[in-house]
Amino acid sequence: MNYPEKVYLNVAIVPPQEAKISVFDRGFIFGDGIYEVLVQINGSFFYGEAHLNRLQEGLKKININFDVSELPCAINELLKATELSEKDCMLYIQITRGVAPRKHSFPTDIAPSIMMYAVPKILPAINQINADVICREDFRWSRCDIKMTSLLGNVMLNEEAMQHDCYETILHRNGVFTEASHCNVFFVKNGVVYTHPADDYILNGITRIVVIELCKSLGIEVKEIPVSIDDIINIDEAFLTGTSTQIASIQKIEENILYTDNKKGPITEQLQEAFLKLK
Ligand code: PDD
Repeated sequence: MNYPEKVYLNVAIVPPQEAKISVFDRGFIFGDGIYEVLVQINGSFFYGEAHLNRLQEGLKKININFDVSELPCAINELLKATELSEKDCMLYIQITRGVAPRKHSFPTDIAPSIMMYAVPKILPAINQINADVICREDFRWSRCDIKMTSLLGNVMLNEEAMQHDCYETILHRNGVFTEASHCNVFFVKNGVVYTHPADDYILNGITRIVVIELCKSLGIEVKEIPVSIDDIINIDEAFLTGTSTQIASIQKIEENILYTDNKKGPITEQLQEAFLKLK
């Protein structure tokens, strides 16, 4: 992972070492902000509008007054300055409430801090990772629908996966699987695809939405209902979805082996092929 060539910070586009912000920014002090991650593939942002809409919704949920329709112009300028216009890359956008003396309640009349950067990123046509995952209690707060910058829970849970040489940590709350530390999770049983409903306990991933639509168009039955942790021994396939993960087959959940020798389930494979066509 490299630093970007340029950073967009509050209208200015500067080298990363010159992108400086107050230590009193509420993003730094409280993690009081919303972020987005997008990928540009073959010259356009994959479901770019959906990502920007989710960003706008997130800002609304935490009462940050910023109109994301200002962003596309700034993104173009940033990509030009970073020499990534039309190139495959990842774009990070972060909008925090802004700078004010430390006090929990929202300050009035401050301007949000806008930060963005893009780095080259070429995603594989199809994600060939066959992921081993661990399972942990979802100890995060109960507003996981908000894509907030305070990701300590996700970071701690992801680190545990790394410590176990695994790709991800899938999470459960009240006895059912919710999502993963930086992905959504799907299960397949008897040809039916299951994923947790888009409520407060998960981030409604853009890739998740795309995959649900793909299931429908392929005639695969999909149910947005939670899967119990007790059902793990009965499932046929499982996969992860996310902007940079795309669709990744899961081969092992804790000690439960679903697939070996880089094989994957037929529905996972069918969805990966269909996803590739969308790009
Ligand atoms: N992660 N759930 C969580 C907790 C996530 O952090 C993400 C995305 C997703 C998948 O959302 P989408 O399909 O819109 O990328 C689900 C991003 C990419 C990240 O934090 O880097």
